[in-house]
Amino acid sequence: MTWQMAQRAQRLNPSTIREILKLTERPGIISLAGGLPAAETFPVEAMAQATARVLRDAPREALQYAASEGYGPLREWVAQELAGQGLRVQAAQVLITTGSQQGLDLVGKVLIDPGSEVAVEQPTYLGALQAFAPYEAQFLPLEGDDEGPLPQALRAAGRARFAYLLPNFQNPSGRCIPLQRRLALAEAAASAGLPLVEDNPYGDLWYDEAPPQPLAAAAGDQAVYLGSFSKVLAPGLRLGYVVAPAVLYPKLLQAKQAADLHTPSFNQRVVHEVVREGFLHQHVPTIRSRYRAQRDAMDAALRRWLPAGCHWVRPGGGMFFWVTLPAGLDATALLPEAVAAGVAYVPGAAFYSAQARAHTLRLSFVTVDVARIEEGVRLLGGVLQRALGGAPSASGSAGSAGAA
Ligand SMILES: Cc1ncc(COP(=O)(O)O)c(C=O)c1O
Repeated sequence: MTWQMAQRAQRLNPSTIREILKLTERPGIISLAGGLPAAETFPVEAMAQATARVLRDAPREALQYAASEGYGPLREWVAQELAGQGLRVQAAQVLITTGSQQGLDLVGKVLIDPGSEVAVEQPTYLGALQAFAPYEAQFLPLEGDDEGPLPQALRAAGRARFAYLLPNFQNPSGRCIPLQRRLALAEAAASAGLPLVEDNPYGDLWYDEAPPQPLAAAAGDQAVYLGSFSKVLAPGLRLGYVVAPAVLYPKLLQAKQAADLHTPSFNQRVVHEVVREGFLHQHVPTIRSRYRAQRDAMDAALRRWLPAGCHWVRPGGGMFFWVTLPAGLDATALLPEAVAAGVAYVPGAAFYSAQARAHTLRLSFVTVDVARIEEGVRLLGGVLQRALGGAPSASGSAGSAGAA
């Protein structure tokens, strides 16, 4: 007997990031690779108290099977929270998911046929490419600039099933789409009849100014919006949500039922208990100030240690610096050397659906502390210097490394 796998299985690929994370488990490696929130930010005490309250007040309900749509009060909370960001939705449009990653999978399941085109930014979130690929999506790269995808690119992508966009502090590039571009994109999508899938796990992690209103606020029923509790509370909860127009909601719900019946009701009740009285309004600013300091430390370290010809834009939020290396360097080929030197990053090629730019890489500034950010970037600078055929720069000599 032999197992014959579905064609779909051929399209399931290992996540480059998870593979790299395995490498970096070796003690002593400074990993700037994974986008793991700083564990120090997890609200352990608030979770412990909320868990005790849930087990005291509604133990049997919390441990029972529950509605696939999600826990009603948490859906209400999400709708209210989004209204505060300019996105008016009904609680009935909110589907609680097992992480926003599940939301991406459900969107793929409901909207993609074999060969359907899906318009994506270049680069884009690797996990979305992974979620959509098994449904046999054909990725349609969207041309963009420093402000995000170009409106004319959306207009030209009208035949796609949807465009997948990350307006706030994109993973991996860190770029935030300004308001005028958002409005132009919403208008272009409407004129092309192109639905939008907006993924926003990083919107609350801003360090200079809050991002503009969601794209979905201007796109209305033409948008699906995904949010997450992973970056503002803890990713281990696996709690996210999809906001969908009425015409899509029942199908997303049925897809969710088939996938896992419902997101753990225990987690939903505990999280609702944590957030209901406004906890995030005190908690998130503490995450922001921590990550802001780490971002600034990484920016300074990059200026100090990266060789001339490297470029990056200091991100206004999120978790990542996106670095462009001098042409000719290949970040994938250099990774083993970097790991041998004691530092890890994610090669940028993983984030492209086509025509990968090999001389790019992503660095996370949230997981390791300021001292190790400095040391990790110093080690990376040495690897890049050697690859360029020069001696490792001593100190400060690469201060004009082209940060924009
Ligand atoms: C852009 C983006 N979308 C979705 C996710 C998935 O997040 P989660 O499933 O933890 O909500 C991530 C995780 O890093 C992400 O960066």
